[in-house]
Amino acid sequence: MTTPDDDRERTVTRRLRAAGCVFAEDEARLLLAEAGDGPGLEAMVADRVAGRPLEQVLGWAAFAGRRIVVEPGVFVPRRRTELVLRQASAVLSTTDEAAGVPGGVASRPLAVLELCCGAAAVATTLAAEHPGLDLWATDLDPVAVHCARSNLGERGTVVRGDLFDGLPASLRGRVRLIAANAPYVPTDAIASMPPEARLHESPLALDGGADGLDLHRRIAAEVGDWLAPGGTLVLETSERQAAETQEALVAAGHRARIVRDDEIDGTVVVAVAR
Ligand SMILES: C[S@@+](CC[C@H](N)C(=O)[O-])C[C@H]1O[C@@H](n2cnc3c(N)ncnc32)[C@H](O)[C@@H]1O
Repeated sequence: MTTPDDDRERTVTRRLRAAGCVFAEDEARLLLAEAGDGPGLEAMVADRVAGRPLEQVLGWAAFAGRRIVVEPGVFVPRRRTELVLRQASAVLSTTDEAAGVPGGVASRPLAVLELCCGAAAVATTLAAEHPGLDLWATDLDPVAVHCARSNLGERGTVVRGDLFDGLPASLRGRVRLIAANAPYVPTDAIASMPPEARLHESPLALDGGADGLDLHRRIAAEVGDWLAPGGTLVLETSERQAAETQEALVAAGHRARIVRDDEIDGTVVVAVAR
C-alpha cells in the first residue's frame, strides 16, 4: 500500500530526474526531510530543478560527517577538501602531543587560521575536533564571511579581507597552522565547469587567474609573515597543478611536500615555515 508520503517522494523524484539530477531519489528524500510538513517544499524543488546546487537549496552541506551551513552564492564545501582538514588536524594533534597538552591547546597562544574560508567548513570541523583553539577565518566575499560566522559562532573570529589583509597585526608570526582552499581554476576553464558551480557559486570563489595559480603565488609570498617558526600551511591544489604550487612555496623559502588522496580526488601541498 502506498502512502501520501510515498506519492510525494515519487513525484519529487520524477521532477528531479527529468531535470537531470543523477541522484534524484536521494535528493528527493533529503528535500522532503528538510521541508518537513512546512510549505517550503515546492520552492525548494523548483530551485533545484532550476539548477541551484542541492546544498544551497537544503541550506547545508555534509562535510567530514558534520552539517555545514551553506548560504546562497557561497562555495559548497567539496569532499576533496576533507584532505585539507585531515592534514590540518594531524598537524594540531602532533603539536598538541609534543607540547603534552592532550586534546586541548588553551594554554598556548598560537593561532589557527582558515584562509579563503568560504563557509569555513575546515575551521568549523577543527573547532569541534580540537577544542580551545585561538581560531580565525577570513574571506574577501562578505556573503562568505556571513556564512562562516553562522558556522563558527563563538568558536572563532571571522574577518573580511584580501588574503591576510583583514587580520590583526598581532597575529603576525604566531599562526601555527593555516588551512586554505583558495581559488585555483584557470580563468578559461571556468566556462566548462558544471552550471551548478558556474552559475551559482561566486566567480571570486573559482577564478585563480590565467594559469589558476595567482592566489597560490600570493599566498606563498605572504604566508611567511604570519606563520610562527615551524608553523604549517596546508594548501589545496589539483593533481595537475600540485608541482607548481609546491614550487611557489619552495621558492618562497619553505619546505613543501605534496599529499594526494585518490579516493576523494584530493591534493594538498603541506608547507612548513623554516
Ligand atoms: C574555492 S572557494 C573555497 C571556500 C572554502 N575554503 C571551502 O573549501 O569550502 C575559495 C574562497 O576564496 C575566497 N577568495 C577569493 N579570492 C580571495 C582573496 N583575494 N582573499 C580572500 N578570499 C578570497 C572566495 O570568496 C571563496 O570563498
